[in-house]
Amino acid sequence: MLGANENKLNEEQIRKALSTVMDPDLNIDVVTLGMISDIKITGSKVFFKLTLTTPACPVKERLEGECQDAVKALDGVEEVEMESAAQVAGQRRNGKEPVNGIKQIIAVTSGKGGVGKSTVSCNLAVALAKLGAKVGLLDADITGPNIPLMMGVDAYQPTAKDNRIVPAENHGVKCISMAFFVSQDTPLIWRGPMLDKAIKQFLRDVEWGELDYLIVDMPPGTGDAQLTMVQATQLSGGVIVTTPQDVALLDGRKGLAMFSQMEVPILGFVENMSYFQPKGSSEQYEIFGRGGGKRLAEEHQVPFLGEIPLDPEVRIGGDQGVPIVAGDPDCAVSKAFIEIAKQVAAQVSIQSRAEVATAAAV
Ligand SMILES: Nc1ncnc2c1ncn2[C@@H]1O[C@H](COP(=O)(O)OP(=O)(O)O)[C@@H](O)[C@H]1O
Ligand SMILES: [Mg+2]
Repeated sequence: MLGANENKLNEEQIRKALSTVMDPDLNIDVVTLGMISDIKITGSKVFFKLTLTTPACPVKERLEGECQDAVKALDGVEEVEMESAAQVAGQRRNGKEPVNGIKQIIAVTSGKGGVGKSTVSCNLAVALAKLGAKVGLLDADITGPNIPLMMGVDAYQPTAKDNRIVPAENHGVKCISMAFFVSQDTPLIWRGPMLDKAIKQFLRDVEWGELDYLIVDMPPGTGDAQLTMVQATQLSGGVIVTTPQDVALLDGRKGLAMFSQMEVPILGFVENMSYFQPKGSSEQYEIFGRGGGKRLAEEHQVPFLGEIPLDPEVRIGGDQGVPIVAGDPDCAVSKAFIEIAKQVAAQVSIQSRAEVATAAAV
């Protein structure tokens, strides 16, 4: 017969069981990743806490289920109670956090204008906020600062509090734009040199509070000004938006080269305006062709984050200051945006982990 002690569950057994659960993005088990804490055993009841690397985790439900199942399978366990939380790690590039209180800075770029960079930036920001992250959106596009309009904050008059700029806030996202400070009548030649300084100020002198993700809508193109911008923002990584046309794909390639040159991790490609599906029809029309973004990603061995269809509601939402993810979160386009947001968050977690591993190896 077993003695009372030998029969008793212990913490080690729970850890061992949980260490069979792998995070599929990081390819490391959840115990080694430090995601498990607060294990408590009361008779046949087990409690533990699972802390994911992002509230936007694309495999959240799967990991939660696998953890519960692993513990439930242990002899002597009758009941499992799991608390699920998320904690975005702060990016440390070259040993420094980008900006106090801002954990991850994500740049959204495109080789040329009009491919939907601002649309993707807004919907990405709103989607991450909806998934439970603290999100800011920085409009760094001086030639066409349209974040204020798209986020419905174009009437915002910035105020200061304790010498810091108070950002606008809508749809759960804090926003700042050059457009709040510089009139569109100001000649571009003046706006250019102001930009680098303004961006640095936007990062340090805006009352962002704590942010998990700051999305930066970058100026279009890949010239010197963009390189300066990439440098000024101490990025965690970049998302490249493209459309399926060859010319946009060629520009997407330049975007990739720019990030590589600055040693900024590439989070992946998004293909916008991939196809058109009329309401009530199952037919998909590939107006500009389709799949170029995916091919480009494969060719360069960077992640493909997803495709977004062409849909008039996307434009209408943008024009009315209500990004489609906020206005109609359950429609197909919004689902595509939310899936892309999860993929972006997962890629950021992967990059952060790589950074930690590199730092540990030095
Ligand atoms: N998937 C889409 N379906 C329909 N219209 C779109 C889509 N993506 C962007 N648009 C529209 O195309 C125009 C250009 O998009 P925008 O985000 O401003 O591009 P960029 O910032 O790259 O210049 C806007 O009017 C926008 O509403
Ligand atoms: Mg734009």
